[in-house]
Amino acid sequence: MKWNFGAWFTTVGLLLGSLVSATPTRQGGVVYELGNITYFANAKYPKTVLKASHPDGDKVSLVPITVIVANQSTVSDEYLQTTINDYLAGDDVFSGDFLGSLYLSSTIKNTKLDQSALKYIRSLNVDQFYLDSNVFHTEIAAIMLQGVSENELPSGPYTATRVGKSVRFLETYRLYRDEYRDFIAGAYPSNDGTGSFTALNVMDAQWWDPMIPVPSRIHFWRDSRPLAGTRVAIKDLYDMKGLQTSGGSQAWIRVTPVANATAPAIQRLIDVGAVLVGKFKLAQFASGANPWDWIDEHYPFNPRGDGYLTCSASSSGGGCSIAAYDWLDNAIGSDTGSSMRRPAAVSGTFGNRPSQGMISLEGAIPLSWSQDTAGVFSRDPYQWARFAKIWYGDTSLHQDTSITGLPPLDVKVDSGFPKRILYPQEYLPLANPAAQVILENLLANMTQMFNMTIDKFNFTATVSNASMFSAETAANRTNWDVMGNSTTDLSNWTQHIDVVTPLLTAWAALFDGRFPPVDPVWRTIWTSYARNPINQSDFDNALRVKAAAVSWFEENLLFETPESCSESMMICDIGTEGLPSFREQDLNQNANASFLAVVPSGAAISCANICPSFACADYTIPLGQVPYESPVTMVTEQYPVSINMMVRRGCDYMLFDLVEKLADAGLVRSVKTGRTPF
Ligand SMILES: *[C@@H]1O[C@H](CO)[C@@H](O)[C@H](O)[C@H]1NC(C)=O
Ligand SMILES: *[C@@H]1O[C@H](CO)[C@@H](O)[C@H](O)[C@H]1NC(C)=O
Ligand SMILES: *[C@@H]1O[C@H](CO)[C@@H](O)[C@H](O)[C@H]1NC(C)=O
Ligand SMILES: *[C@@H]1O[C@H](CO)[C@@H](O)[C@H](O)[C@H]1NC(C)=O
Ligand SMILES: *[C@@H]1O[C@H](CO)[C@@H](O)[C@H](O)[C@H]1NC(C)=O
Ligand SMILES: *[C@@H]1O[C@H](CO)[C@@H](O)[C@H](O)[C@H]1NC(C)=O
Ligand SMILES: *[C@@H]1O[C@H](CO)[C@@H](O)[C@H](O)[C@H]1NC(C)=O
Ligand SMILES: *[C@@H]1O[C@H](CO)[C@@H](O)[C@H](O)[C@H]1NC(C)=O
Ligand SMILES: *[C@@H]1O[C@H](CO)[C@@H](O)[C@H](O)[C@H]1NC(C)=O
Ligand SMILES: *[C@@H]1O[C@H](CO)[C@@H](O)[C@H](O)[C@H]1NC(C)=O
Ligand SMILES: *[C@@H]1O[C@H](CO)[C@@H](O)[C@H](O)[C@H]1NC(C)=O
Ligand SMILES: *[C@@H]1O[C@H](CO)[C@@H](O)[C@H](O)[C@H]1NC(C)=O
Repeated sequence: MKWNFGAWFTTVGLLLGSLVSATPTRQGGVVYELGNITYFANAKYPKTVLKASHPDGDKVSLVPITVIVANQSTVSDEYLQTTINDYLAGDDVFSGDFLGSLYLSSTIKNTKLDQSALKYIRSLNVDQFYLDSNVFHTEIAAIMLQGVSENELPSGPYTATRVGKSVRFLETYRLYRDEYRDFIAGAYPSNDGTGSFTALNVMDAQWWDPMIPVPSRIHFWRDSRPLAGTRVAIKDLYDMKGLQTSGGSQAWIRVTPVANATAPAIQRLIDVGAVLVGKFKLAQFASGANPWDWIDEHYPFNPRGDGYLTCSASSSGGGCSIAAYDWLDNAIGSDTGSSMRRPAAVSGTFGNRPSQGMISLEGAIPLSWSQDTAGVFSRDPYQWARFAKIWYGDTSLHQDTSITGLPPLDVKVDSGFPKRILYPQEYLPLANPAAQVILENLLANMTQMFNMTIDKFNFTATVSNASMFSAETAANRTNWDVMGNSTTDLSNWTQHIDVVTPLLTAWAALFDGRFPPVDPVWRTIWTSYARNPINQSDFDNALRVKAAAVSWFEENLLFETPESCSESMMICDIGTEGLPSFREQDLNQNANASFLAVVPSGAAISCANICPSFACADYTIPLGQVPYESPVTMVTEQYPVSINMMVRRGCDYMLFDLVEKLADAGLVRSVKTGRTPF
């Protein structure tokens, strides 16, 4: 569809003059306001173009319009009124301002438009009234359009333009301010037939906020795809065709092309009906950098508590945006060492690290091939479980064993629940007694509900004592040293091959041998790597070490029985200790605050590193909130409290089933957006 943009553009202002004022975007869209709401319409590639029975002069117009596709043989005033009320109540994009023009269609041939309906439409003062000529055969003052199937033009709000006999229906989005600056940019499907996305080049200049486009929910009400209309934000680590993947690095943007394909895990979401609304901020190349060490990007904001709490890393903008915005349903992050689970904990949202190998990370910038995983944030336990089960449901997207270094992933469905809770004493109790009470209440109720026992144990000592590696592999090192060395090699080699070498080489060639500007955490590691490089065989050895550790774990700690996929569930604190952690470094020095990510004394690794090392599934589940005296707002604020639950690799669905049971019993609840989760 060729569009003479120049000519169109001059008429836009004229015709909208009295109704709305419209501003074209560089990518061929148009931004306008109705009431106090900002909308964006994709004028470059219309949703559909319908032919009118006769031309209505050469008039070109740009008007908000409501499309109603009836699903019954008679349309009455009552039907229209009910439908419009449902639209107003059930959608945040639609408003009465779209009723200035109307297009009526129906899924049923020979639908009758009765007199009461006509009277009602006249009372709405509809300016442009169109009827689908395939279904209505009425002699009234409406323009008849050659209709299309419902999935080509579903019900809801649009923007329409007319040129001669063609009426163009433009997909129309409500623009929300990303007021917590959790996004890099908003995006919308280009609708050019190639599956490509376009970044929305619109910001709120007063507040410095990117604007995020969300489509009407009404479009999806009769769409049977399982995640139809679910609004999802994507970590800017995954490729989306047509968008620049940044990895949070300006240098990376400089040396990598715009993505020419969408990552398979993200494409899966599109295929099941999700709508992707933009890319959220991450710690550079998925590092665990503290807020004050972000140099390229401005650190995102957390709506909880005093607004100065950390969003943690690396899926920082994901957890915080889910905690912030009712207009957003889910965010997709990745987790290598903690990157879903800590951001979920500090934002008081649900977030999972799935079993190793659950879904492809092709088309995502890697941090550690055999430890990277893809997870989802949500505000609601049922919605979270449902989303994840659907997303992970395509087993052809399981990672190849050559990537994980582990046996093929065998995901169990309909498994019984664990019989024991393993309570690791070096990580618990939480430093904040008020938070520990919340955790213990859950344990008391949960053990009763599932007839579980709690076994307190020393995880660190258990691993130290295990016979995990051959003498040759161990080479006189402790188990923890062997595993620590292998984890380092796994990520360093991945980075070296897929990130460091390409970036450093391209940058040096562009800028006379210079080293690229990267955040301090990477500069330190990458410059030391050159002095102590590893090779493919070191990497292969590290993968074997990991496989041996996982095998020990699944035989001795979280093992399968005939009754359950995972005989025990291990619980943990992902690193908050129930104390607030702030975006401002100095505020964390206070005894009642915490620097996240501190390895407790007596432990060899942080709790967050357990499942990355042993391939298990680990979920962050919000439980409650505790008060703290804010050094920022100078009043008492609330900090979210969560628990982490870990089960054997392959038991993800069982753990989601368990979360649903806890929700049924009222022990786990959905969280609100805003200052407090509960
Ligand atoms: C827009 O105006 C309506 C009515 O005046 C008000 O209820 C609503 O909160 C406003 N919305 C925004 C986003 O300002
Ligand atoms: C349309 O109506 C029929 C009959 O009432 C119903 O069976 C069908 O599910 C409806 N279709 C949609 C998409 O709502
Ligand atoms: C996408 O770009 C890569 C290089 O970045 C190239 O190897 C690949 O063939 C391209 N794929 C398509 C579908 O164009
Ligand atoms: C959970 O346990 C606590 C204390 O053990 C109790 O006060 C609370 O009522 C229980 N909650 C539910 C939903 O059973
Ligand atoms: C609870 O579990 C114990 C073993 O831990 C078992 O002996 C007992 O029969 C179980 N009770 C119920 C009600 O299932
Ligand atoms: C757990 O074991 C380690 C040694 O492996 C020890 O340093 C630590 O103090 C123990 N922690 C507890 C709580 O027993
Ligand atoms: C580890 O081994 C030491 C020495 O044999 C023993 O004292 C300790 O109880 C063991 N700890 C665990 C958790 O197995
Ligand atoms: C372990 O240490 C002993 C004594 O220091 C040494 O003889 C042996 O060769 C070492 N083993 C390995 C596998 O490095
Ligand atoms: C391996 O572990 C030892 C002991 O913790 C440590 O000194 C060494 O730096 C590690 N090597 C690498 C390459 O990480
Ligand atoms: C390898 O990576 C770890 C972090 O994963 C880092 O601490 C270490 O400095 C790196 N080593 C080298 C030699 O690059
Ligand atoms: C890889 O590096 C190790 C030392 O870390 C060395 O012993 C080995 O020979 C190297 N292998 C290859 C294939 O270069
Ligand atoms: C920490 O909190 C406790 C309890 O609210 C309070 O008594 C104490 O003074 C606080 N400590 C600091 C250093 O603020």
